[in-house]
Amino acid sequence: MANVTFFSGETIPLELHKVRIAQKLQFPPIRQRLQAISEACNNTFLLETKDIFLDMLTDSGVNAMSDEQLSAMMRADDSYAGSATFTRLGDAVRHLFNTAFLLPAHQGRACEHILAQAYVKPGSVIPMNYHFTTAKAHITRMGGRVEELVYPEALRPESRELFKGNIDILRLRALINDVGPENIPFIRLEAGTNLIGGQPFSLQNALDVCALARAFKIRTVLDASLWQDNLYFIKTREEAFSHMSTKEITHTLAAAMDIIYFSARKLGFARGGGMCMNNKGIYDELKGHVTMFEGFLTYGGMSVREMEAIAVGLEESMDEDIISQGPQFIAYMVGELKKRGVPVVTPAGGLGCHLNAAKFVDHIPQTAYPAGALTVAVYLASGIRGMERGTMSEQRDPDGAERLSDMELVRLAMPRRVFTLSQVRYAIDRISWLHEKRRVIGGLKFVEEPANMRFFFGKLQPLGDWEEQLAGAFEADFGDAQ
Ligand code: F0G
Repeated sequence: MANVTFFSGETIPLELHKVRIAQKLQFPPIRQRLQAISEACNNTFLLETKDIFLDMLTDSGVNAMSDEQLSAMMRADDSYAGSATFTRLGDAVRHLFNTAFLLPAHQGRACEHILAQAYVKPGSVIPMNYHFTTAKAHITRMGGRVEELVYPEALRPESRELFKGNIDILRLRALINDVGPENIPFIRLEAGTNLIGGQPFSLQNALDVCALARAFKIRTVLDASLWQDNLYFIKTREEAFSHMSTKEITHTLAAAMDIIYFSARKLGFARGGGMCMNNKGIYDELKGHVTMFEGFLTYGGMSVREMEAIAVGLEESMDEDIISQGPQFIAYMVGELKKRGVPVVTPAGGLGCHLNAAKFVDHIPQTAYPAGALTVAVYLASGIRGMERGTMSEQRDPDGAERLSDMELVRLAMPRRVFTLSQVRYAIDRISWLHEKRRVIGGLKFVEEPANMRFFFGKLQPLGDWEEQLAGAFEADFGDAQ
């Protein structure tokens, strides 16, 4: 992606790709959106594509694929064992991370399942920069506990801190001394820290964490699902390492970590996952779990076609023109919303543009799910599907008490090379309109609440008739236009 400045002085991110396969979109009018969100019980996970204009739910498995990826898929070798496709994927992973061994898995959470199954026991403590929903669920399921060690600044939505994903090394040392290294099966570092707004860690911080872990003989695990974003930010924000190539930065980090796992729905721009490592002992500890839960060691539950696409996608993840597209579109959207007074997470991170619902709808208490309500309101105002990343995405405590999240965010994901700038500008316009009308937005309450990962399937109801009122305000300003 290039940043070009027009003759008028305006700077925009310019696409360095062209579209060769297009998907027709629906543009449902306001009344259809009102009906659809009600049928989806106010949970955007329950909406159907036919009712969505721009799907910004996630970047998972929905990045645009390249011509090179598609052509590679045609040569997939579907042999159950010893497939040539696995050899090619193994080579691509070795090239990327400089690691000796690859264990395939069907997606990122399958790796989290295996790591928790293999290493977490009741009483285990797993320090990390910040949790991800599935990573935490697998750890707690095995009786372990997560300790989040980001700096307080990481949880301040508006900030100038460039590396909000960093671990506080002093707190990490204190925690190790407190609980004992023998109770810490691994330290988990998440690239492009998802739940705090796609925020990166610095390479220096990651190396410091690994050095401390080594001194205590504790394993280190990198969740590299969002590595391409984190890599871009190291390259562009961390002066000490910006002279290094993307590959050199990746190798430097990988050499310090014991285990790397990734969702190839994100890293690799296709659908799958895997774990890689240099230590044969670790490989042997984990491989039985792959054959038990995923599939044979040369496919691990993935389609061989996807494996071919991942192999090419991993190579493409080293191309700065490709990996800059997400962050630069996100930076544009964040910058334009900020100019219009809309509260957004800053600095702009990876993954998507994050609205700060705690401020946007500061009249809604956390127990009435402000981020969930704002996600519904964004859909009503624009037909754009975002994702709640706040209290609804938390799990209740064992005693049933609501666990209020550190931040209340609405994530508008920017899958790579999927949207055009005019679509992003439409999003900016409708969200700015919604910000003007924000006092109309009310809260939500659960009417059906699953005990586990309630945000996926939970059903909710609006508190009052605010959705109808918002639709009326929309019609007053835009008529029956979209
Ligand atoms: N780690 C991170 C940082 C993730 O963002 C995800 C998935 C996973 C692990 C799990 O990988 O989905 O392949 O099983 N994030 C998706 C999202 C679901 O929408 O942010 P998976």
